[in-house]
Order: sequence, then C-alpha cells, then structure tokens
Amino acid sequence: MQRVSAEAWDVAPLPAVISKDWQVPAVRIEDAPRFSYRGLHLDVSRHFFPPSFVKQYIDVLAAHRLNTFHWHLTDDQGWRIEIKQYPLLTQVGGCRRETVVRKNFNPYIGDTPAYCGFYTQEEVKEIVAYAAARQITIIPELEMTGPANAAIAAYPELSCEPRRYEVITRWGVFEPVLCPSEETFAFLEGVLDEVLSLFPGRYIHVGGDEAPKNMWKLNPVAQQVIRREGLRNEEELQSYFISRIERYLSRRGRALIGWDEILEGGLPPAATVMSWRGTAGGIAAAKAGHDVVMTPTSNFYLDYYQSDPATEPFGIGGLLPLEKVYSYEPIPAELTPAEGKHILGAQGNVWTEYIATGAHALYMAWPRAAAVAELTWTPKEQKDYADFLRRMGEDFRRMDMLGITYRIPDVEGLPKAVAAGTTSLRLELRSPHPDAAIHYTLDGSEPQATSARAKGAFTVRIPPQGLVVRVRSILPDGRMSGVQELKLGS
Ligand code: ACM
Repeated sequence: MQRVSAEAWDVAPLPAVISKDWQVPAVRIEDAPRFSYRGLHLDVSRHFFPPSFVKQYIDVLAAHRLNTFHWHLTDDQGWRIEIKQYPLLTQVGGCRRETVVRKNFNPYIGDTPAYCGFYTQEEVKEIVAYAAARQITIIPELEMTGPANAAIAAYPELSCEPRRYEVITRWGVFEPVLCPSEETFAFLEGVLDEVLSLFPGRYIHVGGDEAPKNMWKLNPVAQQVIRREGLRNEEELQSYFISRIERYLSRRGRALIGWDEILEGGLPPAATVMSWRGTAGGIAAAKAGHDVVMTPTSNFYLDYYQSDPATEPFGIGGLLPLEKVYSYEPIPAELTPAEGKHILGAQGNVWTEYIATGAHALYMAWPRAAAVAELTWTPKEQKDYADFLRRMGEDFRRMDMLGITYRIPDVEGLPKAVAAGTTSLRLELRSPHPDAAIHYTLDGSEPQATSARAKGAFTVRIPPQGLVVRVRSILPDGRMSGVQELKLGS
C-alpha cells in the first residue's frame, strides 16, 4: 500500500542541538494553571501526518504548556490506526481512491492519485510514550456512530445496508453510519480493547457529531432495536448506542468524551461533552452536572482563516484572528460558580480538509494555539492581549530556532478606519515579532521587501482623491505576514 512519503513534508527537522552556552537564572516560580484541560486537536483522517510530524506537533504543545493532544484518527475519508483484529480497517479504510480538488464538489473534480496512510500500533506506542515524557495526554478519537465510511468501506456489514462502499473522497457529511446491531457492538468492543491497550489516558473520544440518522429510520435492524429498548426515536437510539459504549469504557476505568451532539436523545450519566456548535451544548451539559471542554467554532476552529482570505493559503472559510481566540472566556456567564467548575478547559481544533502538509498545519495552529494555552492557563484577571503579543516576540524567536512554522503576525497599530475629512494621519506601526521589518505602500500595490520601510512614527498626507495604505511585516529570511489595508479619503 502506498503511504504518504516523508519527502512530501516541508517541515524542517528539529535541530538536534542548538549550540550555545545556555545560562538559566536561578529563580523560584510559583504558578499553576487555571484549567486542567488545555488542548490542541489534529485531524489526521482528512490528511495524514506521519509520526515524525506528530512528535513535532507534541513538542510545540509541550513548549506552550498545553497538556492534551486530541488525535482525530477516524473519519469518512480515512481510518488511520492499525487494529490487529480488523486489518481491513487500514488496508481498505486507510486509503481513498483520490481527493477532491479544492471545493470542486459539483461538478466534482478529483486529483486522481490514491491517498493512503496509517499509524502502526508500534508507532502509536512510541508517540504515546513520547507525549507522556512531555506531560501530554493523548485522547484518541474514534467516530461513533459516524462519520464511519472508512470503516464501512472495509467492513460493509457494519452498516445497516451491507453493499459496496468506498472511502469518501470529498468533504461533507455522509451516510451511512454504523448499524446498532450486536455485530457492530462486538466489532467496536474489539477495536476499543486494542485502543485501550495503547492509550493509558482516562478519556476516549467517541465522536458522535454529524451522524445522519435517515438510514436508521428505514432500516428493520435499527427499528427493531428501537422497539426492543423502548426508545422513542433515532436520537434516543444514538443515545442508547453511546451509552452502551460508555458502560463498556467505564467498566474498564475509562471515561467517554464526545461532541455536543451526544446530548441529543439523552446524555450517558458520566459523559464529558466537547461543545463545538457554540456554547449552548456546553452550558446545558454543565447545568446537568457533566464535565465540559469548550471548543466553539467561533473561537477555536483553527482551520478558519487568520485574516483576509485573499492573502492566506486556501482554506475552509470562516475568520478567526488571533485576538478573537485570546479574548475567549471559557466559563459562560450563564453558569453558577458551582456549575462553572464543570468547565474543564478549552481546546483548539485543526481540521485538515484543506491542510495537506505539516507546515500548513503548524501555520494554522501557531500562534493561535499559544492564545489557547494562555487563556486556559492564566487567571482571567491577568489576561492582557498587548502583553501577550509582547511576550510572543520571544516565543516567535524560540519557534524559529526549533524550525516550527507559524503565521507571521499582523502589523499592529493600523487603525480600522478614520473619520471622514481627515487630511493627515500619523501612523506608528509595530510588529509583535522582534525581527520583523514593516513595509508599506500608498499606491495600492502589494508591499514587498523593496517597498518603503516604516521605522518609528510617520505621517501620511491624504490627497483629495484618497489613498490606500497597505502594510505587512517581513522577516530577514523573507517570510511575510498577510497584507492589511486602510482606505483613506473618498
Ligand atoms: C465537528 O467539527 N464536526 C466536531
């Protein structure tokens, strides 16, 4: 089977030794995190990232005192973990025929080469140990009851309508999901036994999101389970399914965590909820006494654009600038202090439909994940965005030394708008990166290293016909931020 080759990775390997005589001042540090759960996620199903990259990803988490790596291992487009009892999961489910090109869904355009990859159990063990040595717990995610097309392509009897299925080559939400039959439960328990032997952490993530239930409505097996268990509808059937898995896990000393859809039809008694469709699910779960991890799309979807899409690598959509991540308060005002204790923390999610390389994944995660790290660590009263940006200066240099890709930060100090009739404007532009130079243009062209350089404050005279100020920061090695612009006058 073809695996994604390591050469396809454009991330520089970690330097083995940074040669320098390091001096560490003797200090006493008294510090403790505000939240026990400080997470970053990576979707390795839509695109596969090799073990060397996963370790590098874990290094960067650890350097920022994040303590949980949520490893999204299965989805419609690929099953990525070896399960010895069910070899077809990776042999068939680990490979898709091709991948849709950008957003060419209709008419569909595929890129033709097969896309394959998975982690052997030996690789998983090594990564789990690597993470543990860096105080990182890994939460594996196996999607139940869907998205499950990669598993169903391998073992069609897992669907309620066994026939030929293929690993999905497009992005979206797809039928079928797993059939709630005894055979499916036996399969999942077999899979979980192997997964539990690999991952020692308390939590197992069972997905539970975006699982269409239409096929259950029409299927005699699913309807028979509904009658047998006295369930009212397909939502309760989903809940029955997840509850059975939760009992299986809790008998083995583990805890179930799932996306907020697991609230629909009733939450299993000890389940923890990851609130992603806003915060309503998290609030409802906390009020009902369940633990919650906050990861609403609005503030934690690190696959969203970081600024103007025109100047960013092609992506899924959305807009989530660094400051918006930083500004998030994980404990909703709707909760009482006692209910608020159920908020374990927060997590940034890196979904990879449109992220095919390690460098791009890191670019999307950093520095936004540093904001996740700070908002989950620092007491609310001590959060200060300007101070965070100032301290990020050292962090950017540290990531540069480690060869970690990140988004070059935007220039600070460009107003969003100025009052009509303004004829001159004093600008004092800064970059949070200590090594960045700021370049600008006044003629609408894209700023480059050869454009005028802003050093200290300067004044722009606004002619009657108006003008456009465009700015960006550029590092000595040529890396650049996106372009920000301000239209002045008519
Ligand atoms: C999700 O983004 N479907 C959890």
